[in-house]
Amino acid sequence: MRLPLLLLLGLSSACFAKDATIQSPNGNITITISDQQATPSYKISFNGKDVIENSALGFEFKQQAAFAEGFTITDVNNSQHNSQWQQPWGERQTIIDKHNELAVTFKKPAPQGGTYTVRFRAFNDGVGFRYEVPKQAGFENIEITKELTEFAISGADKATAWWIPARGWNRYEYVYNTTPLQQAALAHTPFTFKNADGVHVSIHEAALVDYAGMVLNQRRPGTLQADLTPWSDGVAVKKHGAFNTPWRTIQIGDKAVDLINSDIILNLNEPNKLGDVSWVKPGKYVGIWWGMHINENTWGSGEKHGATTKETKRYMDFAAKYGFDGVLVEGWNIGWDGDWFFNGDVFSFTKPYADFDIAELTRYGKEKGVQLIGHHETSGNVTNYRNQMEDAYALYEKSNVSQVKTGYVADGGNIKRIDENGIARHEWHDGQFMVNEYLHSVQLAAKHKISINTHEPIKDTGLRRTYPNWIAREGARGQEFNAWGTPPNPPEHIPMLAFTRMLAGPMDFTPGIFDMSFNGSGGDTNRPQTTLAKQLALYVVMYSPIQMAADLPRNYLAKPDAFKFIQDVPTDWQQSIALAGEVGDYVVFARKERKRDNYSGNDWFLGAVTDEQARSIEIKLDFLEQGKKFEAQIYRDGNKAQWKNNPYDLKIEKRIVTAADKLTLKLATSGGTAIRFKAL
Ligand code: NOJ
Ligand code: CA
Repeated sequence: MRLPLLLLLGLSSACFAKDATIQSPNGNITITISDQQATPSYKISFNGKDVIENSALGFEFKQQAAFAEGFTITDVNNSQHNSQWQQPWGERQTIIDKHNELAVTFKKPAPQGGTYTVRFRAFNDGVGFRYEVPKQAGFENIEITKELTEFAISGADKATAWWIPARGWNRYEYVYNTTPLQQAALAHTPFTFKNADGVHVSIHEAALVDYAGMVLNQRRPGTLQADLTPWSDGVAVKKHGAFNTPWRTIQIGDKAVDLINSDIILNLNEPNKLGDVSWVKPGKYVGIWWGMHINENTWGSGEKHGATTKETKRYMDFAAKYGFDGVLVEGWNIGWDGDWFFNGDVFSFTKPYADFDIAELTRYGKEKGVQLIGHHETSGNVTNYRNQMEDAYALYEKSNVSQVKTGYVADGGNIKRIDENGIARHEWHDGQFMVNEYLHSVQLAAKHKISINTHEPIKDTGLRRTYPNWIAREGARGQEFNAWGTPPNPPEHIPMLAFTRMLAGPMDFTPGIFDMSFNGSGGDTNRPQTTLAKQLALYVVMYSPIQMAADLPRNYLAKPDAFKFIQDVPTDWQQSIALAGEVGDYVVFARKERKRDNYSGNDWFLGAVTDEQARSIEIKLDFLEQGKKFEAQIYRDGNKAQWKNNPYDLKIEKRIVTAADKLTLKLATSGGTAIRFKAL
């Protein structure tokens, strides 16, 4: 018997209840929760058609009986929410949180029983749900061995998925696969797919705190099972007493861009816990960085040492002259000599090399109005970092450093920690231990008014809302792969990231490579596989509150006209709209700058990128304010541009436009367009 929700409301122990349902505020999404299957289950429909079929809920534990069979619904509570909140920085300032909530409590009598609640939230753009396990007898010490959550994809045999493998040595740094959904093996989230009706869905999680990261394991065709990355001892999650899991999220839309224009992940995170965060500053930076990746410099000491006082001053001069806020310096601290990848034990985070005078650079930076940006590479030896962390952040705070890039270069499963008995253990980057370790660094840094940009991170799950000093991270193949050519990122990489990795949050991709033939060969396998215009478009497409101009100063000075766009583009936005796109093919964004520092808050920007396919895209400018005039400063692929043989053919044009106009963007193969709409 299916009881309508209304009948269930107000019943505190409706042991006869079998189904509970909830709908999104606009009625498009329906979630049905049931205790009629072997284990409690849920399903989701969108516009009347199933998207997720009956899918299991529950847990297995090491000591206790499973939360699986025999649990029945005993209580349902529903509520409606409609509020707004403000981001201190972000892709938009005001976020609307409108959803309906249903908390469903399951119980099974002792001795094999227990109780837990699953809280569901139905938004117009998708669903979030989490488990809440209250304090109860016999559950003082909990070791979760398995989360039973499933995502049984409706029409899986006709769906296409875009995904990267999980539990690999290269963490999240894989080229994305496009396959029939049923060929997706163990996959990371965000896991994006499209079904036969053209409905786009992305499965991910929000507020991953003190829990293992979830990957998706397709054990039976079409059914993706939550698979928690375990500790080195095989246990998935260790808890004491009551706990909540992260939110499991399912973004749903008619169009691919609906996934991008959704704020579910942020809405399911807790509000800012840091109070006044005016010290967290979006901005642009340059750095002693690309030179190491293209072998002009070394991180370690010697003739080619990049991180010298002299070189840093040269970068500070450049930054000051062209309006950058900071200079990242890598390789400044003792420990890089030898094979730093395997040397995590010997890094000092407080002792500079002799040719790097941090006190003098602090003074010089203040004089120039440019901040040093800190760098801590741990090579995955997190105990060594933990032991020095307080001193390391204190040194940087004293040195006027307000942003630190951290690094956890180590193969997946090879993070080294020394346990309480002095034994070395090897952990995954996305297990519970590291989830806590990354957050610890962010929390401690906040005490020193330092923002953290994590490389080789845990995936983003929206914690920037709670900890706004977690300003960016890597967590996908960045520009650096184009220097190494192992192989470089393919032309479809950016329009792929936009609908997958970027749904999670900002990425420190490090755009802006102007010299594509740094290896001298003029070939196409060891360079960015893009046009110059596409490198500019990245500043709008790849959202991050901190953006690097990653190339060497001399390469910017060689192309001052193109460089002007990087100087003009902001990194903090009042509004962002994904206007058009298809996963892995192309994407177009419009963003309005937020008023801060030198930005008036009146200009709009547009970024468009395509894959290996040249294409023209007609865009209505109706996002601009009606009746206002703008000068469109257009940086586009020239008529002969193509990424392989003619990447530098860039055309810069100006025209006056209004909201009533349309623009036809012509993108070359792996090309792009970047536009500043300067308010007149
Ligand atoms: C990998 C990071 O992604 C890169 O940006 C950095 O230069 C190296 N690690 C060294 O820390
Ligand atoms: Ca990396």
